[in-house]
Amino acid sequence: MSLPNDLSSFWLPFTPNRDFKRRPRLLARADGMHFYDESGRALLDACSGLWCVNAGHNRKPIVEAIRKAAGELDFAPTFQFAHPSAFALAERIAALAPAGMDHVFFVNSGSEAADAALKIARAYAQRIGQGSRFRLIGRERAYHGVNFGGISVGGIANNRKPYGPLVPGTDDHLPLPYDKPTMAFTRGEPDSGAHYADALENLVALHGAETIAAVIVEPFAGSAGVFGPPKDYLKRLRSLCDRHGILLIFDEVITAFGRVGHGFAAERYGVTPDLITFAKGVNNGSVPLGGVIVCDRVHQAFMDGPDHAIELFHGNTYSGHPLACAAGLATLDLYRDENLFERARKMEHVLEEAVHSLKGAPLVSDIRNCGLAAGIDIEPDPKAPGRRGYDAIRRAFNEENMVIRVGGDTIALAPALIVNEDEITRMVEGVRAVLMQLS
Ligand SMILES: Cc1ncc(COP(=O)(O)O)c(C=O)c1O
Repeated sequence: MSLPNDLSSFWLPFTPNRDFKRRPRLLARADGMHFYDESGRALLDACSGLWCVNAGHNRKPIVEAIRKAAGELDFAPTFQFAHPSAFALAERIAALAPAGMDHVFFVNSGSEAADAALKIARAYAQRIGQGSRFRLIGRERAYHGVNFGGISVGGIANNRKPYGPLVPGTDDHLPLPYDKPTMAFTRGEPDSGAHYADALENLVALHGAETIAAVIVEPFAGSAGVFGPPKDYLKRLRSLCDRHGILLIFDEVITAFGRVGHGFAAERYGVTPDLITFAKGVNNGSVPLGGVIVCDRVHQAFMDGPDHAIELFHGNTYSGHPLACAAGLATLDLYRDENLFERARKMEHVLEEAVHSLKGAPLVSDIRNCGLAAGIDIEPDPKAPGRRGYDAIRRAFNEENMVIRVGGDTIALAPALIVNEDEITRMVEGVRAVLMQLS
């Protein structure tokens, strides 16, 4: 593949466009653990694309399923009609989800999944005669995508500041359960910190539980830089939500489908939320697809009224697109047939050992790991926060033949679940080499 002649028209998302177009990084093809650039150079993919290619790139059964589906049914509406693979995939996802979470609403992305879940939570409150519950409580440094609901409950300042005013009823955020001075370089989930959930009590005291519809959290905060939940934190949040009649939403767009060694983080932490959002790994990142898994109690509240009445005024043209669903079915088969969730549980310890060996490397101020994911904080340049992070992406690509993910000045590693020990070593040594060069 040759370089395109003109890079000016495409406005890249979440990218410094002017610098990128002076020195582009083009990915032309992919296979397994690697991307390849236009000259054929192999680049080790250290973050599963964007935390999505959990079974590795261009897996044959998925590619074949998409090809077959495209030849059979290019599109079918799921408003008032449907097609078989949407039902089949919903059933498979519900079977992986915790017991009692049996209903799946499809959208096309994690952002749409977050906004759909927030809307379902508010609509549910109205359905059960508690319409005063409108508040949606997020968490500091959370990422729930880029739509207005998601950035409102989200807590990443740069994603919010240019776009105010945001959604009413979303001003309150729980603290991130993290304290750098006492938690830096923790391996896995911190032992203490469950008490961070108690901040919800303060909000209940301030506003009244009767005004709060839902709390939304990522089981581990991914985009902020891999912050695992302290032991029992999610359990405590669950019991506080129960006490006050508040719905609990887990945003599992990153954590589902093997990233923490299970179908869902809900299983790893033994906590069943009321709603789960998912996207990415559901079909190995191959065709846009996301969704919300809804517990039976919430779903049932919508299932009344006259026969002709639509129960939820929400949906997207491509909700449950035939190609995305076919890819999802093939992906879930692959996860099962190759025992990839179990493999992730094994490799998690290899990643933990390897990544914590970076303690003491230049500029490293914290290292965290959770499931098959790790975050490495780089001391920011006080005059130019984010510059070192961006430099790390460029150096990893140009000098270490690696594609890494960086948010601000934090490097995230989240390899596909097929990764082997040598590849983890290469990733970590590549990061070490990059850190040595940062100024
Ligand atoms: C927890 C979480 N929610 C939502 C999203 C948004 O997903 P998308 O980019 O598919 O809209 C992401 C993306 O990384 C995410 O990590």
